[in-house]
Amino acid sequence: MNMPNMKQARLRTKNPHKIIKDDYIIPTNVSNIGKNKNYHVITYGCQMNVHDSENIKAILEDMKYKEVNTIDKADIIVINTCAIRENAHNKVTGMLGRIKHLKETKKDIITIFCGCMAQEENYVKNLTQKYKWIDIIVGTHNYHKIPIYLENIMKDKKQEVEVFSIEGDVYENIPVKRDSKYKAWVNIMYGCDKFCSYCIVPYTRGKQRSRDHLDILDEVKKLKENGYLEVTLLGQNVNAYGKDLNINYNMANLLEDVAKTNIKRIRFVTSHPWDFTDEMLDVIAKYDNIMPYIHLPLQSGSNKILKLMNRRYTKEEYINLFNKIKEKIPNVSITTDIIVGFPNETEEDFLETLNLVKKLKYDLAYTFIFSKRESTVAYNMEDLTPLEEKKTRLARLNEVVNENAYANNLKYLNEEVEVLLEDKSDKEGYLMGYTNTMKLVNVKADLSYLGKIVKVKITDVKTWSLDGSLVKELANVR
Ligand code: SAH
Ligand code: SF4
Ligand code: F3S
Repeated sequence: MNMPNMKQARLRTKNPHKIIKDDYIIPTNVSNIGKNKNYHVITYGCQMNVHDSENIKAILEDMKYKEVNTIDKADIIVINTCAIRENAHNKVTGMLGRIKHLKETKKDIITIFCGCMAQEENYVKNLTQKYKWIDIIVGTHNYHKIPIYLENIMKDKKQEVEVFSIEGDVYENIPVKRDSKYKAWVNIMYGCDKFCSYCIVPYTRGKQRSRDHLDILDEVKKLKENGYLEVTLLGQNVNAYGKDLNINYNMANLLEDVAKTNIKRIRFVTSHPWDFTDEMLDVIAKYDNIMPYIHLPLQSGSNKILKLMNRRYTKEEYINLFNKIKEKIPNVSITTDIIVGFPNETEEDFLETLNLVKKLKYDLAYTFIFSKRESTVAYNMEDLTPLEEKKTRLARLNEVVNENAYANNLKYLNEEVEVLLEDKSDKEGYLMGYTNTMKLVNVKADLSYLGKIVKVKITDVKTWSLDGSLVKELANVR
């Protein structure tokens, strides 16, 4: 048993991470345990978790389990959790209740609890005391060991807890079962060393570890050969890619090399303003297959709050970067993340954020009320603003965010755009996909257009999405 330890999770040494290519094995006595059995994976949180779930699915399929789309039919249930805000906990607790209920009638169900909440010391303590029926608790560093944990619980029927609060390494050759046939997540780095004062991620994901660029390029090339049209390069701070490797190769170099594979569409998230270089901007502007879309978290428009958040940039530096991006990349869309109600945020600080958002007119903003996370620096900051006041600030901010989103979308009316039709839409007879600039579009089209990049004329505009119709003669441009 290895329990999480938040103090240890904070440590950062100068030791370089290892790249490990041969640590995934399936013990022979579990190589068939999934035969005629089903699994279901529930995923909360960010793209990192979505992609981890794709790995976990493939690992389960390597033991012959088959995927089903509800927990009711599953023999093994994986719950992949997120710890970013407190309300994530509530959702998970509700789901655990449902699984426990299922287990009362179907005793043999195996439950695996993983993700960022599995890295939280107190939460896991609580799980081991009050949720003894959970079979395996596994942290974010060691999913490739799931077959071994399954073997262990077969043998001794005891709760297996393996969570490592370590800086971490990079594991290659872990199998993946991708949710889409057209677009793929590609990790370029793991972990985070920024330690923004509110954020738990550096504790739950370990230090920043970049993958070797040759492994990344190899993955992209293979995806392209297999018909994939889009890749999203993933990391908490993709712009800092390579900084931990002590080699002369950075995010601009990586973007350029990925662009040269000629895969049709390249995206990347998330961009921390601190590490955004001019060299990157030049590369993005130069290659048509690097999409003109940047997610650039602001967090706050007040320098006082930015400092307390340990964001390492000022409002003025952020505005400069924002303007440079708009100038250099034609038609770029920019989205952001904002936290309201950070400790010590006054009405004046909030107004600075609000006014900045009015000025910058983001395409979209994801807005959150500050949530106290255990072990982070902000956890102990005095916070006198009542929750009701914070909720009002959030609503005021969202009103501006929505106005901006609609005004930006309105520019697309009657324009022709390219869309990768990736799935059925909720609307009957429609498919959905995204423009180069990451606008969600519903398009009237039959299933034969799935997986194609098509020209679409925008016919209607809403706050969160666009409607469009196929430009027939140009449909199927690729
Ligand atoms: N690495 C990314 C952010 C990942 S978390 C970056 O630095 O931009 C996604 C968003 O969740 C953050 O941008 C932040 O706005 C929000 N967030 C993180 N911790 C939070 C907390 N404790 N309370 C409220 N929102 C938080
Ligand atoms: Fe969290 Fe900051 Fe790292 Fe983003 S950069 S993951 S907000 S610590
Ligand atoms: Fe949540 Fe962990 Fe992602 S805390 S946002 S799942 S890195």
